[in-house]
Parts: sequence; C-alpha cells; structure tokens
Amino acid sequence: MVDLKVQYETIQQEVSDAVLGVMASAHFILGPHGKALEDAVAAYHGVKHAVAVASGTDALHLALLAAGIKRGDEVITTPFTFIATAEAISYTGAVPVFVDIDPVTFNIDVNKIEAAITKKTRAIVPVHLYGQPADMDGLMALAKKHGLRVVEDCAQSFGAEYKGRKTGAIGDMGCFSFFPSKNLGCYGDGGMVITGDAGLAEHVLSLRNHGSHVRYYHDEIGFNSRLDEIQAAVLRIKFKHVDEYNEKRGKNARLYNDHLSGSGVRAPSEQRGTRHVFHQYTVRVNDRDAVKKRLDDAKVTSSMIYYPVPLHLQAAYKDLGMTAGSLPVAERAAREVLSLPMYPELTENQIATVAGAVKKAL
Ligand SMILES: Cc1ncc(COP(=O)(O)O)c(C=O)c1O
Repeated sequence: MVDLKVQYETIQQEVSDAVLGVMASAHFILGPHGKALEDAVAAYHGVKHAVAVASGTDALHLALLAAGIKRGDEVITTPFTFIATAEAISYTGAVPVFVDIDPVTFNIDVNKIEAAITKKTRAIVPVHLYGQPADMDGLMALAKKHGLRVVEDCAQSFGAEYKGRKTGAIGDMGCFSFFPSKNLGCYGDGGMVITGDAGLAEHVLSLRNHGSHVRYYHDEIGFNSRLDEIQAAVLRIKFKHVDEYNEKRGKNARLYNDHLSGSGVRAPSEQRGTRHVFHQYTVRVNDRDAVKKRLDDAKVTSSMIYYPVPLHLQAAYKDLGMTAGSLPVAERAAREVLSLPMYPELTENQIATVAGAVKKAL
C-alpha cells in the first residue's frame, strides 16, 4: 500500500547526517529539533502554537484534556475512523457519541450533529478522513451556537485545506499523527497539537511532560508524551517536501480517476473549495468483498479496507449498546470502501497496473 523505502532513498544522506547529529549532540529529548519543528509546523498552519507529542493518539488525548473534557462529558465524533479518535475521548472518561457520516465525503454529517447534542456535550471531534476536509463551516457554526470545543483529528490530513485554511487551524486545536505512513511521517511514532490559543498550548505542554513547566514541580498529573529529537530531526527534513509529496498524491489520484472512469467504481470526491491530500485513495465498490477477494487472488496489487467495522459496532464499544442499522451510512461505507496503493512516489505504470487489476476484478 505504501512503499516507504523509495522515499527514504531520496533523502537518505540528509536523514543519516541529521540522525547522527542528534546522537553526537546527546540531546535526545525536548531539544532544538523538536522546537524548530514546532515553530515550522505552527507557521505553516498560520497559528501561534504547536506542541510535539509522542503519537497522534496522545495528541488527541492531551488536546481533549486541555479542552477540559472529563468523566461524564459527551463528545461527538464520527464512527467511520481509526479507533484512536474514539479511544482518546474514552481515555478522558467522556463518552463518544457517534453521528453518522456523509455518503460522499465519508466525514461526519454536519446536518446530523445538532440532534445528538445534549446537556452533557462538551466537544466535537471531526476527522478529515483519507485527507478530505470535513464540512468545517457548518460544524464551527454549531459549536459556536452550543458553546462546544472543536478538536480536529488531522491524522490523515496534513496540508489539506478547507476554504483556504489548513485543517487543524480551524477548530480550537488540531491534532496530527506522524506515524510512518502518514502524509508527513517519521521513523517511529510521533504527533503534534496545534492551536491559536496560548492557554491551551501551555496546558498541552505541561500534560506532555508530567504536568510540569518547571523541572520537578508538578501542577497536575500528566504524562510522558514527548517527541524525541531523532524523530523531530527526520520530520524537519520530510516537512520541507510535504507540499511536493501532497501534490504528487493529488496527481496520482487524478491518474487513478482517469484509469477507473466508467469502470463501475465510485472515485473519491474532492469537494469544491477544499484541497484533498489523498492520504488514501479510496473508492466505493458494489460487492466489495468479492472484488477484493479476486484482487487478492490475482496477486497483482494489495488493497485495504479502511475501515471494515464502524466504531459503534466494535466489541470495544459494545457497552454503548448500539446495534447494526443505527448508523446506516457508515455501515454501508464499511461494506463498500476499498483503498488502493497511494504514496507520492507511485509511478504512472504502477497506477495503470493497479487500475487494470481492479477493472479485471470488477
Ligand atoms: C484518523 C486517525 N486518528 C488518529 C490516529 C492515531 O495516530 P497514531 O497512530 O499516531 O497514534 C490515526 C492513525 O493511525 C488516524 O488515522
């Protein structure tokens, strides 16, 4: 699905120098690379603050804690996402409230959010799934009307734009994952929270480092969730290329669209006024499981299902008592989506081969 080696080969020398430089400096935690990366990512998003943490999951967890989310609260999110989105809500003691998705964008259906708001609702966590921004105008208007925090899950959307603004810079906080296969990925785990709010940034800074601003003085129970300097050094190198990487993903997606047009699969939509960064190239297919099996048997390409079970039907969330049929649009998406290999360095030939195999399987 993703060939990380081809990209590594293009930056190998720079990465080796940077990683060896960190070793030689013996400054491994909370050093100059982390700070420089935070400044660069904040400036890229046009916000004042960025705090690097140990993973995208931690970014969401610490952001929600900083937003004051606690036991007994409710947080509205999408059921059609990686489980980390909901886990982060659960870690705070709050309950995730799943709202069905839009069938075209696969993101939370903003028209269905208001009906899910109760006296306990404190926040909304939209996910910009596959790199396609959620409908943030409608969502922000609802949040304002009901006094709710908005924590954007941008794990799959680094560089994506909604009406000229970068995802992550629209809500109160934006949370990124630097998992290796992400649009901006490191060589291990990593994440970041960005925000325009100095108070929230200060709180995440403290939470990531044992609830402490001054060494050995602890204002609250915090966590060990710091991005190490080796990962930050790698990310600074890859960050210089992230726009070019995203351009290439877009070009690859358009090539797939051309090859697959008229084939019977529904290509991903790029909503007007948005920039989709194609973390995944995900099509909809009728009879998806049979098509995937034929594709697997042909052994020409890999393909993946992100995600086969929506979160409200996961065993981990059985206590919510939600049954099949309760969020039909997400459930249908889970039955129909199929993601094809996507990364910047895919060649035109590879795309033609994958598309040919898909058409044959259809
Ligand atoms: C939508 C979404 N949210 C959160 C995460 C969690 O990020 P991480 O794996 O860095 O903890 C991921 C990544 O896997 C993701 O895809």
